[in-house]
Amino acid sequence: MKLWGDRFGKESSEEAFQFSASLPFDRRLWKHDIRGSVAHAGMLGKCGIIPQAEAEQIIAGLKQIETDIQTALDRNEDPFDPQSEDIHTEIERKLTEKIGEVAGRLHTARSRNDQVALDLRLYLRDACDEIGKSLIRLQEALIAQAESHLKTETILPGYTHRQHAQPVLLSHHLLAYFWKFQRDRDRVCDCRRRINVSPLGAAALAGTSYPIDPALTAAELEFPCAFDNSMDAVSDRDFAVEFLAVAATCMSHLSSLAGELVLWSSAEFGFVILDDAWCTGSSIMPQKRNPDIAELVNGKAGRVLGHLVGLVSLLKGLPLTYNRDLQEDKEAVFDSHNTLCGSLGVMAGMLQNAAFQSGQMLEAVKASPFLAATEVADYLAKKRVPFRQAHSLTAKIVRSCEEKKKSLADLSLEEWKKFSPLFDADIEELLEVGAVVKAKASPGGTAPQEVTKAIMKAKQVMQAPREG
Ligand code: ARG
Repeated sequence: MKLWGDRFGKESSEEAFQFSASLPFDRRLWKHDIRGSVAHAGMLGKCGIIPQAEAEQIIAGLKQIETDIQTALDRNEDPFDPQSEDIHTEIERKLTEKIGEVAGRLHTARSRNDQVALDLRLYLRDACDEIGKSLIRLQEALIAQAESHLKTETILPGYTHRQHAQPVLLSHHLLAYFWKFQRDRDRVCDCRRRINVSPLGAAALAGTSYPIDPALTAAELEFPCAFDNSMDAVSDRDFAVEFLAVAATCMSHLSSLAGELVLWSSAEFGFVILDDAWCTGSSIMPQKRNPDIAELVNGKAGRVLGHLVGLVSLLKGLPLTYNRDLQEDKEAVFDSHNTLCGSLGVMAGMLQNAAFQSGQMLEAVKASPFLAATEVADYLAKKRVPFRQAHSLTAKIVRSCEEKKKSLADLSLEEWKKFSPLFDADIEELLEVGAVVKAKASPGGTAPQEVTKAIMKAKQVMQAPREG
């Protein structure tokens, strides 16, 4: 069945049909398509555009089709006819099969152009809610690990430029990701607000001559409002671009976290042991435990970014209004949604079960000779040496230690005093790792008291209601 076949003198070529059919991927919109059609039919009836009784017949038929499809899917049967070019055609075909000619009234005052825009918005609204939930699960895993490692005050070298910089609490490090994902949640809600506009009633592009009520269908479908301009409504895919941008940003956060876990699970670092259930082996090297899951998350970030670039390239320069090019939006959106939800899920599971190695981390801190160098400069600066001078003197101390293959902790008080008489016995305890971390008590810093507050705040913001 085709919704437009009678215009043509012959059948489409099989090749052209296969090339242009979207049923193989837009089938996943079936529920949203039915929901939109139910709302549309209801509106047609209420506005007196079609007889109320027929609207009810159409709605009952659509609901029956929903049950039929679900039953078939549950039985692992394919409910869709591959002869239909898209999901809209397929649902209408099923409706005709079920209720006969009356089905033909459903498409009154509607086009597939507003229909497909509606379906995609309904789909993405659900996707946003699902992603929000997956983000919460990941954030909870981060908080749980941060809490347990705050109790033990697990310390590791903090890095800048991939070089040892200053010691930090592992909890602080993990919470850094919490905030990235918190912003991702904000972005999901924000983009959901713009997804949440009904395009139904725009028809093909110009609106319609029937006395429709787009506000009614919008309300029925739980949209706070309907479109303002019918031509914008059928051509707009900004909401999909935003969704992909949010997904790509979140994937980039996930890939950083995943990349760190890969690095940390290496023999050189040994900062984490990933649970067996989240690792894979090698077919040839019996000893291997590979962090494939984390590696894949990193790899998959690239494809989501690719989808974002792909969609923007598709839209760039596209004239108004609906163009078939727009059909290409769906696979980008669907794949990004799958990839993001899958990645969020495995990262939460992997983190929950990760064994961070506090002993190894502490060893790395202790083996790092100059992690406390900033403390030395600050010590002098607090004794009124201008910070630049304090920095310069400390740099000289570091160089001299390097020459003598010593760490700062190895220096005796006499040696300190040779560099400056301002050094007293208290310098030694100041350089102790725990003290260095404790000293970073500025707001949002890594001192345990600050991290304790940060965990409380993190828990609070997670509970806060959000709109989208
Ligand atoms: N499969 C199409 C899409 O995804 C549905 C809309 C088709 N509209 C049309 N005028 N051919 O964009």
